[in-house]
Amino acid sequence: MAVEGEATKDEALVGGMMNAGAVVRRRTLVERPAPRTAHALHSYLLALDEHGFDAAPTPVGLTADGRERLTFIPGDVALSPFPRWAMTQNALRSVGSLLRQLHEVSATIPVDPDVEWPRDLADPKGGTMLCHNDVCPENVVFRDGRAAGLIDFDLSAPGRPLWDVAMAARYWVPMLEPESAVALYPAGLDAPARLRILADGYGLSRQDRAELPDVIEQATASCRAFVADRVAGGDPVYTQALAERGGWQRWDRMQEWLVTHRLRFTTVLLE
Ligand SMILES: Nc1ncnc2c1ncn2[C@@H]1O[C@H](COP(=O)(O)OP(=O)(O)O)[C@@H](O)[C@H]1O
Ligand SMILES: [Mg+2]
Repeated sequence: MAVEGEATKDEALVGGMMNAGAVVRRRTLVERPAPRTAHALHSYLLALDEHGFDAAPTPVGLTADGRERLTFIPGDVALSPFPRWAMTQNALRSVGSLLRQLHEVSATIPVDPDVEWPRDLADPKGGTMLCHNDVCPENVVFRDGRAAGLIDFDLSAPGRPLWDVAMAARYWVPMLEPESAVALYPAGLDAPARLRILADGYGLSRQDRAELPDVIEQATASCRAFVADRVAGGDPVYTQALAERGGWQRWDRMQEWLVTHRLRFTTVLLE
C-alpha cells in the first residue's frame, strides 16, 4: 500500500555523469533532460518496442521546459564501485546477449539521415544502424542476475555493431589495466577470459572477433577525447572524476596496456 504523500514524491536517480542530479523517478516514470535528438530518439525507442525489443524505456513525452519522460524499468542498476553480482560471468554473458538482441532489432529500423546524431563516442566509421554507444553498468538494468533493460540512449548514433560491442567491453570486462580496474571493480577479473565471454554472449562473428581488440583501442581513444572535451569546457563532474582517478597518466597506462595485450586478446577470442 502506498504511504500517504509518497505517491507524487520525486526520487532522485543517481548513477550518471552527463545528467548528474537532473534525473528523477516519479512512480512509473523517469524525467530527465531531453537530449538534442529527443524527437528522433523517441521514434526509435517506439520502433524498438514495436519490433519486439521490450528492454528499453518507452518514451512518454517531452515537457515544455526541455525534459523528457520515459518509463522506469524496474530492477537493479550497478553503480561504481561495481558489486560482484554485476560482474559475474552470467551477468557478462547476458549483457552480450541483450546487446545482440538490441542490434538485431535496431538493424531493421531505418536511421533518419537528416538528424544530427551526436559525435561523442560515436563510431568514426559511421554505419547504417543506430548503436547505443554507452552500454556501461550504470545504463543496464538487471533482474534475477541477468541484463534485462538498457537505458540512457542519449549518445546513440549510427555505427557498426562491433563499435557498440567494443564500448560495452571497455566497461563490462573491463578493458582496464589492473590498477584502474581494481579501483572500481571486484578484484580478480580475468580480462581475456571475460572478453571471450562477452563475445560468446553476443555471438560475435570470427571476423569481428579478429577486429575487436583494435576497435577497443579506437573506442578507448574516443572515450579519452570525450573526457578531454568536457574537461576543456570546464565541466566540473568530469574534471573532478579525472583528477580523482589518476589524471591523463591513467589513460596513458590504459592505452599502453591494451596495446601490450592485443595479441593475447585476439588469441583468446579466436581459440
Ligand atoms: N528508465 C529508467 N529505468 C530505470 N532506471 C533508470 C531509468 N532512467 C534512469 N535510471 C537510473 O538513473 C540513473 C541515471 O540516469 P541516466 O539517464 O543514465 O543519467 P545520465 O545521462 O546522467 O547517465 C541510471 O544509472 C539508472 O540507475
Ligand atoms: Mg546513464
